[in-house]
Amino acid sequence: MSETLFALQLAHLKRLDRAYAGILEREGLESVAIYSGHSEPFFADDHAPAFQAYGHFMHWVGLAGAERSWVVIKPGQKPQLLLYAPSDFWHLTTTLPEEPWIEAFDITLCKEPTAPALSSKAAVIGDVERLDARQQKALSGAQFMPQALITALDELRVIKSDYELACLREANRLAKAGHQAAKAAFIGVGAELDVQLAYLGASRQRESMVPYQNIVGLNGHAGVLHYQHYDLTPPKHRYSLLVDAGHRFRGYCADITRTHVGPDAPEIFAALVVALYGLKNELVQSIGPNVEFLTLHQQMHRRLANILVSFDLYKDSVESAVDLGVTRAFCPHGLGHLLGLQVHDVAGLKSESGSPLPAPEEHPALRLTRTLKPGMVVTIEPGLYFIPMLLAPLKERELAINWPLVDSLINCGGIRVEDNVVVTESGFENLTP
Ligand code: GLY
Ligand code: MN
Ligand code: MN
Repeated sequence: MSETLFALQLAHLKRLDRAYAGILEREGLESVAIYSGHSEPFFADDHAPAFQAYGHFMHWVGLAGAERSWVVIKPGQKPQLLLYAPSDFWHLTTTLPEEPWIEAFDITLCKEPTAPALSSKAAVIGDVERLDARQQKALSGAQFMPQALITALDELRVIKSDYELACLREANRLAKAGHQAAKAAFIGVGAELDVQLAYLGASRQRESMVPYQNIVGLNGHAGVLHYQHYDLTPPKHRYSLLVDAGHRFRGYCADITRTHVGPDAPEIFAALVVALYGLKNELVQSIGPNVEFLTLHQQMHRRLANILVSFDLYKDSVESAVDLGVTRAFCPHGLGHLLGLQVHDVAGLKSESGSPLPAPEEHPALRLTRTLKPGMVVTIEPGLYFIPMLLAPLKERELAINWPLVDSLINCGGIRVEDNVVVTESGFENLTP
């Protein structure tokens, strides 16, 4: 760990200390215990799926893989870390990271899962319902998941500290190495699995560590928004590749998408991909303090309408493409979301004061409706897809869609380009240039 990052982490912990003290006082609480969580074995089996710690736990310690552990915050005292470290000859025993930040915590290595004993002026947050009776008993005096506390702690994660930004920058750097290797594997006629393995190798991570399952879609699979498989054999024709894949660094997530054009794609597809990269850049340039994210999302739809018209995919006005919902069939997801310890980070659909800001009815998949502020980190991910399931209802309406041209693109699946962007005092910083 570099000295710079360590200094930033100490400042981050101080900021958390102060903020938690204020929030706990306001809520009339003496302390809060944050459970990291644990993974349960599959039904009737003895092994469990990959684990990822609770965001508020990682906000303090960044240990994304620390199961059955606790952070306890009591203002005026060092934060307490109860790190589960069983004596177990089947697995490598957990040890403390050899990093200087551990000095900032009062740490206990627990051989048994150990819940802290708490008073009635304490709160417990996390997925504690599945804890055994002994641990439940230790916690029983405390207040479970008080909503006002959760709302305030979620809000604290919205504006990133310099330490968090450094982590997100590093997560992006690692993910970008993966994306370069994925592109090379595609050029080398790899199957989806080859692209996936190239990505994991170059970004130095095993599959259980990724912040979300990598989306690696060739051809029509590029039009399945969260495509979840990896074909083992390369297809006969190679129209397109969409890779949506990230990386975690000290808990913080990168979420990057790139679309590549294959040798068998129609010319118009290559031009559309260039247009989408241009649209992504234009939207990134529009980011700054006090910008409404919903306005940016609407700007994306107007520009998508423009692209549909200028490429002769839609033979009517830009306004009608938006008003009649045509662009929504070509891009059914939102422009982006908050990014941090979770890929879809908390508090995207509420205001600073906690009041709900739901997505508008016509854009139900939009995950961020806030006014942008310096320190927020968002994704910008415009898309243009040719999804038969969404195009079919348009075919039943009298719309000026150039169906032969649209149908010629179905094999290409779709295009998405996604960058991670920090809102700064003067505008933005693109973490994914
Ligand atoms: N990787 C999921 C998303 O882009 O939101
Ligand atoms: Mn995203
Ligand atoms: Mn993504």
